[in-house]
Amino acid sequence: MKFCINTFRWGDYIHEVWDSWYLDQRGVLLVAEIRPKDIDPNDKKLTKTAASPENRLSSVTNQVVVGVSHAYVCPKGKQIWLEGIRINPKYRRMGIASKLTYHMIKHGKEIGSDAREAAAITAQGNIASRRMMEKNEFHEKAKWSYYTGYKKNEQQANMNGLAIRNKGFENNQGNICDDDINAICGSKNVSFASPEDIEKIITFLSRSKTFISGGRKYVQSWKWYELDLEYSKISDLVASKKIVIVRTGDMQEIGGLAITNNSLHKEHCAEQNQLEDKEQKQGDNGEEDVAFDAEGSSLQIVYVDAPTSASLKNLLVFVVNIVLSSSLFDRIQLFTPNQTNHEFYEISEVLAKFGISKSESFLLYTRSI
Ligand SMILES: CC(C)(COP(=O)(O)OP(=O)(O)OC[C@H]1O[C@@H](n2cnc3c(N)ncnc32)[C@H](O)[C@@H]1OP(=O)(O)O)[C@@H](O)C(=O)NCCC(=O)NCCS
Repeated sequence: MKFCINTFRWGDYIHEVWDSWYLDQRGVLLVAEIRPKDIDPNDKKLTKTAASPENRLSSVTNQVVVGVSHAYVCPKGKQIWLEGIRINPKYRRMGIASKLTYHMIKHGKEIGSDAREAAAITAQGNIASRRMMEKNEFHEKAKWSYYTGYKKNEQQANMNGLAIRNKGFENNQGNICDDDINAICGSKNVSFASPEDIEKIITFLSRSKTFISGGRKYVQSWKWYELDLEYSKISDLVASKKIVIVRTGDMQEIGGLAITNNSLHKEHCAEQNQLEDKEQKQGDNGEEDVAFDAEGSSLQIVYVDAPTSASLKNLLVFVVNIVLSSSLFDRIQLFTPNQTNHEFYEISEVLAKFGISKSESFLLYTRSI
């Protein structure tokens, strides 16, 4: 599987997920194998590529694995998520990814017979992948942006992106109007949602152009799932402290919201436990446990809906402060649908002031099955 190591400029992640994909009860890990007799040297497709058919054929003396992919049936069984399609560069443009796509859907439907949609995400700049999806009758449903910022130290931050800042406005005071300053100071308007907010959250999202333009999805472990606007679903998210809301000036309505992937209540408790643990360890041997600080993780914002720059800034002050004040997080990752109603402000500019920079645009492709 050497062809899965340097797929992208940043490498690849297939080796990290291989075991869990292999053992996955709700999914199927497929490989494509090729045998010498499968290759027809007169096939016009082979002559389309730079390598001559003979060169390509000569390496296939035995059966070899030339492709891999994983399909996963999403928890409610409505959608089959396609991911990790990798074809050995020597064997591309031979229809192998298309065949894998066919088999992923076929096997996926055996696991989740109610699934009515297949979906996949691809970077906007990945033309080969996009064309392959389109050739297989997938349609572009939504465009999402992915942003990230680092806390750990300036050096790492510079290598991987910007350093997270909580005083995103200090150096930019001159550019910020009074309304913005009031909005930032007014961050008492921001809080974790409580059960009384559930109906309002449902109403806000059902009217939100951003929610609709994002395909009515949110992100979980790099999979874009349908966010059902059912009371029980929103209630679960609220109970696990995963929804942060910003209220309008009169505190009556919801003016924006963010959904996190981390149960922040649990994180908070875990942090308390760790602190107690740490104190205990320090008490035991008088030294800090070095390993304790070595681990870091991400606070993932898996949906952001902030129709004004003020609501976005308020939400960000809140979540950035969580990251900066918690030893559990050293990074923010933020996913947001490309907002269609943002005539007044550029989301990237606001995020950049907090040290959260855009790293990629992704296209969500779907197909009825
Ligand atoms: C994207 C990828 C999986 C395509 O695999 P493949 O086996 O070459 O795809 P197929 O042969 O099934 O291609 C089907 C169609 O897709 C389109 N296509 C595939 N590669 C293309 C390319 N480089 N440029 C333009 N169109 C392309 C063509 O329309 C092709 O049909 P055609 O050859 O009859 O013109 C492969 O290039 C790859 O492994 N890339 C790196 C990993 C990756 O990006 N995976 C997807 C991540 S989401």
